[in-house]
Amino acid sequence: MKLIILKDEQALSNYAAKMVMDHINDNPNGLLVFPTGNTPLGMFESLVSKYQKGLVSFRNSSLLELDEYYGIAINSYLNLFAWLDRTFIQKVDFFPKNVFRFNSDSLNSEAEIQRISAIIQSKNGIDLLVLGLGTNGHIGFNEPNSDPTSPTRIVKLTPESLQSNSRYWDEDSIVPDSGFTLGMDSLLKARKIILLVQGNSKAEILNATLNSDISASVPSTYLRPLKNCYILADQEAASKLDTNLINNLG
Ligand code: F6R
Repeated sequence: MKLIILKDEQALSNYAAKMVMDHINDNPNGLLVFPTGNTPLGMFESLVSKYQKGLVSFRNSSLLELDEYYGIAINSYLNLFAWLDRTFIQKVDFFPKNVFRFNSDSLNSEAEIQRISAIIQSKNGIDLLVLGLGTNGHIGFNEPNSDPTSPTRIVKLTPESLQSNSRYWDEDSIVPDSGFTLGMDSLLKARKIILLVQGNSKAEILNATLNSDISASVPSTYLRPLKNCYILADQEAASKLDTNLINNLG
């Protein structure tokens, strides 16, 4: 794992977008997995601008969403896919046949999990994985107690994650308390991983990610031994890190 500290959110977003662009230009046919949430929004904006300038194209890439609420209508505005679609997918040039999502209203969740797992397999695994970081160390919806063998599945969201996600929606929205997530087993095998960590609210958990024992109680600690994992943090998120640690990780 390599830690890269950037000045602020803008610098982090630009750096992440450049990494993604360079990766896609070198590996145009891969399966991309991107998160929703607030952290990647600046990166998406920067990628859209690079696409508009002709610097990158997604026409040969595939995209799969990282996680999704379970038990809501497929066209609900609460769908995480809808978030990803309006902030990124529809602004660039993916072919619709190469874009994959969980069916949030599936009546047969087991079959849905099998379908998504088969897509990952047919694409030869995840090529580029971009992640945000939950304040409890979740990656995707892999909540605390998810170990590296945790498969793609439905999980019950923790009160902390529900509370944290509630800032996405207005007060009257009834947000499901469970969701599909790609499993730790497929995420940790991605050929390149970029974890984005932004803002003061992530300072504690970034410190735990880098310093606490590697264990299921903080799922993001499993990224630490991976040579192909880049953690991009802004200075606010890095504010609780020991400077010796930063120098040693360089
Ligand atoms: C979203 C996801 C979550 C978020 C995390 C951080 O698809 O998988 O793990 O990445 O909760 O969310 P933000 O970026 O809103 O702080």
